[in-house]
Amino acid sequence: MKNILVTGGAGFIGSNYINHILYERDDYNIINLDKLTYAGNLENLKKSETKKNYQFIQGDIGNAELIRFIFEKYKIKYVINFAAESHVDRSILGSEIFFKTNVLGTNVLLETARYFEVEKFLQVSTDEVYGSLGEEGKFSENTQISPNSPYSSSKASSDLMALSFYHTYGMPVVITRCSNNYGPFQFPEKLIPLMIINALNNRKLPVYGDGLNVRDWIYVIDHNKAINLVFEEGKLGEVYNIGASNEMKNIQIVKLILNHLNQSEDLIQFVKDRPGHDRRYAIDSTKIQSQLGWKPAFSFEQAIVKTIDWYIENKLWWQRIISGEYQKYYSEQYKTN
Ligand code: NAD
Ligand code: TYD
Repeated sequence: MKNILVTGGAGFIGSNYINHILYERDDYNIINLDKLTYAGNLENLKKSETKKNYQFIQGDIGNAELIRFIFEKYKIKYVINFAAESHVDRSILGSEIFFKTNVLGTNVLLETARYFEVEKFLQVSTDEVYGSLGEEGKFSENTQISPNSPYSSSKASSDLMALSFYHTYGMPVVITRCSNNYGPFQFPEKLIPLMIINALNNRKLPVYGDGLNVRDWIYVIDHNKAINLVFEEGKLGEVYNIGASNEMKNIQIVKLILNHLNQSEDLIQFVKDRPGHDRRYAIDSTKIQSQLGWKPAFSFEQAIVKTIDWYIENKLWWQRIISGEYQKYYSEQYKTN
């Protein structure tokens, strides 16, 4: 059995990872540590909660005492660190929690993992650490790190910190840097779920600036499969870019969503641009494809429709989020604020 500490497993990507991997691997014993911030939701894990080799703990990755206790009690030998504050717009409104969780929290995990001599530490990073591209080119693993938002700079810090633990202490660290994800259970503050939900509610769809910023989209299942491949077979001390070569302008996505929902483009509202808005992201994932044999299984056309349909079929999930009902439930269950 591999005792794996998965952090942030009640969030979008982490919960999809757990829901998928528990059905693929019966040699994984997953301890999911999540603070249950506004973005964490145990409803995402209904499929996994009854599994024998799964356990949930509510807590903060920055709580050194708790982390030490978990490593000791569960004999943790592997870590996959998904936990983070993840939304650029929130980081612009207030950056402190981003540095607390993403930098200091990751430091606690790394130090504890070092003390307990873990066999693998996978840091889930992002292509946003590379900054912004012009019209041409793609991010490779050798592209200069150049983050522009408080969010991406906090992720770059944790990513480089993890690498420094490999170089300094020989810790078995691997890093993944993925592009924008979409799929089920994504919190409705991010572009795709926000636009789907607003369209379903006949509300305006706020498009920042001219709507021509480009993101490189990947279906969450493809990201998670790549993460697991890097976790199992990635070379220590290495960075792996993950992306599915699906560059889209924001306005194209918004129109596609409206079109699929038979809603009018009159719902589009161009609003003030995000400060420091990165213009274009595009990932070169040649390394993971050629060295580890990964390739995306889902086409954008197929998976975006699957995603829109998921939000149509799971109205209760997002309606409860919007109404704050889950938060109330968790604060009673776990006595959080
Ligand atoms: P998310 O915001 O949906 O989930 C984050 C989870 O972390 C939540 O469950 C939250 O409760 C938990 N968390 C936050 N602070 C914590 C703390 N201090 N201690 C313990 N748990 C805490 O984010 P996501 O979209 O699922 O992203 C997961 C990871 O993937 C992040 O590290 C993010 O930077 C990275 N990433 C995301 C994308 C994307 O497109 N969403 C792309 C590339 C990389
Ligand atoms: P987002 O989902 O926040 O991801 P990120 O900023 O990490 O790439 O945003 C994706 C793109 O969509 C980004 O260019 C900003 C834009 N956007 C809007 O135009 N309107 C919105 O309401 C949001 C949330 C994002």
